Amino acid sequence: MEGFCIRTKIKEYDTFKEFANDEQLGPDDLILTNEYIYSPSIEPLGLGCQTLFQEKYGAGEPTDNMVNAILDDLRDKNFTRIIAVGGGTIIDIAKVVAVASPEDHVDDLYDHKDSLKKHHELIIVPTTCGTGSEVTNISVINRVSRGVKMGLTSPSMYADAAAMITNMLATLPYKVFATSSIDAMIHAVESYLSPNGCSISRIFSEAALRTILKGWSLSVENGGNEAWKAYSADFLKASNWAGLAFGYAGCAAVHALSYPLGSVYHVPHGQSNQLMFADVMRKYKEIKPVGRINDLENLLAECLGTKPENALDALYALMDKVLKKEPLRSFGVKESDLPVFAKNVPQTQQRLLKNNYVPLTEAQILEIYKAAY
Ligand SMILES: [Fe+2]
Repeated sequence: MEGFCIRTKIKEYDTFKEFANDEQLGPDDLILTNEYIYSPSIEPLGLGCQTLFQEKYGAGEPTDNMVNAILDDLRDKNFTRIIAVGGGTIIDIAKVVAVASPEDHVDDLYDHKDSLKKHHELIIVPTTCGTGSEVTNISVINRVSRGVKMGLTSPSMYADAAAMITNMLATLPYKVFATSSIDAMIHAVESYLSPNGCSISRIFSEAALRTILKGWSLSVENGGNEAWKAYSADFLKASNWAGLAFGYAGCAAVHALSYPLGSVYHVPHGQSNQLMFADVMRKYKEIKPVGRINDLENLLAECLGTKPENALDALYALMDKVLKKEPLRSFGVKESDLPVFAKNVPQTQQRLLKNNYVPLTEAQILEIYKAAY
């Protein structure tokens, strides 16, 4: 058994400038980011770092084509550290670049995932409050060539340091806040229920859940799309804690069932998780009404000021106020897709399904998709 361990140094700063001074960023460093983050927050500091802007290689979540083009462009650059500044896409790409040898393409990394070595020191600065990816060793790539969104994991893919900089969230659009904080909340719940969690990982799950629910409740009470910004430091911390929790305990069926929605219909990660969340939880309750899910209900009841038997419904209602949940069909999903998804998920997502609160059969997965449709 591998014990709970935090492999990444976690540092907290108020500004990017403080971080840049502390890490002495300079010409040997490659900053992997988006230009809309770089121009206002980093460029004025005149650090002289090398840069690579992800959006020049395509939009949306990382694909094998996007990452291969980036690897090709980096082959003749000399840099020591990778400084990844961004959301899940940037972070996932940076983890792959950190372990790619000069000859590697994405398929090579999946083929040799057990022997990957780190070629560049990696520092991650998250600019959303969702993925927790700065403290996990997984990168999720949509392998377009194979028609599947798959996680690549390796001990070498842990960042050496994560810099948590509150004011990097200042310009986050509301929809990105909503989907990323929903993702973090689901990381907290899935890791809390995971049979592969431990007493320590559950401390992080619980702290993340309490913090996110409090921040959401206050943001909703205060109304308007800007209200969450008063709690941005809390949301950033909570997403990091949820990352520490699921980095050990794992995510589960919600993530597994949401992957086809991302890879086929390009629904953003956090939102696709929201589309599956309530119906996965309802199926869990139906199959195994007594178990750790009751501890979760008690915790939610305490946070949301309701009775345990109403707590999950209260959570769905609060999530709806953060971002209205829509049926799968409104994203273009066809009814004929559902059996295909239900068949593929158990074949491709065992990495996640092994962390389910209860095992789910293909037939039960199909019922969940139909309920969400
Ligand atoms: Fe996630």
